[in-house]
Amino acid sequence: MKKVVTIGLGYIGLPTSALISSNDILVHGVDINPDVVDTINKGKIHIDEPDLENFVRKSVERGKLSASLKPVEADIYLIVVPTPFDKNNKPDISYVKDAIKSIINFLKEGDLIIIESTCPVGTTEKMSNLIFAKRKQLKDKIFIAYCPERVLPGNIMYELVNNDRVIGGINSKSTIMATKFYSLFVKGNLHETDARTAEMCKLVENSSRDVQIAFANELSIVCDKAGINVWELIELANKHPRVNILNPGCGVGGHCIAVDPYFIISDFKKESRLISEARKINNFKPEWCLKKIHECIEKFQRTKNKKPSIAVLGLTFKPNIDDLRESPALKIAKSLNTKNTYEVFFVEPNVNYVKGIKLTELQKACIKSDIIVKLVNHREFLELDLEKKEFIDFCSQ
Ligand SMILES: NC(=O)c1ccc[n+]([C@@H]2O[C@H](COP(=O)([O-])OP(=O)(O)OC[C@H]3O[C@@H](n4cnc5c(N)ncnc54)[C@H](O)[C@@H]3O)[C@@H](O)[C@H]2O)c1
Repeated sequence: MKKVVTIGLGYIGLPTSALISSNDILVHGVDINPDVVDTINKGKIHIDEPDLENFVRKSVERGKLSASLKPVEADIYLIVVPTPFDKNNKPDISYVKDAIKSIINFLKEGDLIIIESTCPVGTTEKMSNLIFAKRKQLKDKIFIAYCPERVLPGNIMYELVNNDRVIGGINSKSTIMATKFYSLFVKGNLHETDARTAEMCKLVENSSRDVQIAFANELSIVCDKAGINVWELIELANKHPRVNILNPGCGVGGHCIAVDPYFIISDFKKESRLISEARKINNFKPEWCLKKIHECIEKFQRTKNKKPSIAVLGLTFKPNIDDLRESPALKIAKSLNTKNTYEVFFVEPNVNYVKGIKLTELQKACIKSDIIVKLVNHREFLELDLEKKEFIDFCSQ
């Protein structure tokens, strides 16, 4: 039976390793973080993901999964390391390069290398060149492919098995070999293409979401100026059989939709004008929301001759999750927290603690406030008692 080495044991690498090893394939996971390695070898996990600990514990107990700081010789290598951005929104593929360098000396004829990290177009080719520059004799004798990951955190163990996958090799033999490998543990359809198309496919999926959300966000700003209720407008426009406008919100956050478009923008600046503009619109939306909140506060002070107290509902980057990464709602909340001369109550039912922000229970915050601002459409906020309150809703349906 073939042996797999996974480089990177984070949110994607660990569930992938756990799933593959649960299919009786020997997996050796590698991570540069010693705490991660120790935790996994104890059959435990360092990230929050339903079902994952069960998979890891069983695989470790059965001797099918182990972790270490260094790679070992294997037949299949999966690269699942981070691809962050620098301050100028340029992607940094140095982790992928380091991961490839760490396995170069182990490679032998017939091996398969698959990159799963989200990467700029052309990265798989670049990594192939890196390998063949050092190991010329392996040219055309090993298989290299790209297969992006599109799982939703919180549902990873299900989606790893059931989602369709796009698989693109540096040549058709590589595509075929990689597809054969995924067919061992994926039930979704496996779609074959070339490496560049597979790389672009991942970037386009989230860019497409970003552009559609930007359209909705732009509409909300236009409608506000035109004195039109954007929610009613979208509901009516969506009665058209071929129109499906998304809901506006207070911006776009998280680590995928708000990030992946920059992989395209940084390499295709002149050509990706719509994608670039969508990013700007979605980045601007929290600022616009803040301006609307301040206008409401000023109006309240003018007409009621007193300072209002405010309830801010929702801080995560989307409804009904506990993830605050790149959250536009959190950005708005932080700004209200620092600049205020009025009392602000922050409500986030999905987390217990937010650094620098004091959380208040929903009912108490609403009773004590004059103005209620809804930033995230959590299920807890669907029925609010708004009697005698000013209500600003940036995310209704
Ligand atoms: N998290 C998601 O929901 C998601 C979804 C789709 C795609 N992706 C992409 O998958 C890739 C991995 O993301 P993630 O969320 O798993 O990242 P992560 O930060 O959770 O995990 C990456 C792990 O790689 C380790 N690492 C870094 N360099 C290494 C090296 N040279 N050798 C061994 N280990 C190394 C880190 O210590 C870390 O534990 C990224 O490119 C990301 O964009 C993530």
